[in-house]
Amino acid sequence: MEIDRKAFLSSLGGAAALNMMSDEAKADALEEHMMFQLNRATPNGPAGGPKFPTAAEIEAQIETRPSRRGVGTLFVSPRGNVRKLPTMPAQPTLIDFFNLRFQDTANHVLQSANLAKKNGMSEEIILACLLHDTVQALIKVDHGWWGAQLFEPYVSEKTAFAIRYHQALRFYEDKENGYEYPDLYRRMFGVHYKPEPYIEATYQMVRKHKWYIYPRQVTVNDLYAFEPNVNPQLEEFAGIIGRHFKQPKEGLGFDNSPVAHMWRSIIRPDAPL
Ligand SMILES: [Fe+2]
Ligand SMILES: [Fe+2]
Repeated sequence: MEIDRKAFLSSLGGAAALNMMSDEAKADALEEHMMFQLNRATPNGPAGGPKFPTAAEIEAQIETRPSRRGVGTLFVSPRGNVRKLPTMPAQPTLIDFFNLRFQDTANHVLQSANLAKKNGMSEEIILACLLHDTVQALIKVDHGWWGAQLFEPYVSEKTAFAIRYHQALRFYEDKENGYEYPDLYRRMFGVHYKPEPYIEATYQMVRKHKWYIYPRQVTVNDLYAFEPNVNPQLEEFAGIIGRHFKQPKEGLGFDNSPVAHMWRSIIRPDAPL
């Protein structure tokens, strides 16, 4: 999708504000900006969409705001009060979560999965693309790791690996495998990225891993997925979900898995304790 560099930079608070942000934060800001544009451009996106804050505002307001930026999208409203959430079925499926809790990322991950399918990826990678950012309903900081943990009991090891490490790999070019995301970062920010040490260390580890290609394929099908007016539907992936996502019969959140509480937290984010 087309990005207005000037508008994006000024929405961040300009060059001075940009200097105060870590590269991870800049990348997240860009992703958030693109998701917002996407949701605004598609008919089934959330009405209005979130307001994009400036970096200067973020820095100045850390100690004045009641919540932190890494909090999940369900837990804080970007503008005004949060809304009452629709009730979920007693034995909720992945599809119920998509329809009733993952709306903020649904368009983006559906587009990613759609592109992965067009590009002939394996079904395990198409599923990874379909799930890769959805945990942001629960928490945004380190979403690759959180997302992999949330889905690990229900997907193959390869799918979980791909989800976990896409977050680190997005900073590193790999033209041989068709990844040019960092070019966009450079165009947007005019800087060479120096990811935080834990991201760099993770990249070095994954780069040598025999499964390197799987998270790489998620990043390859990630960026270009931000296309306005492309609205793939979840039903198109029902077969892949059925074959590769082990839906617990008790429902997600009620199967006593080690991550059941994470699903329940997405179901009931209004519970006070
Ligand atoms: Fe992501
Ligand atoms: Fe993404």
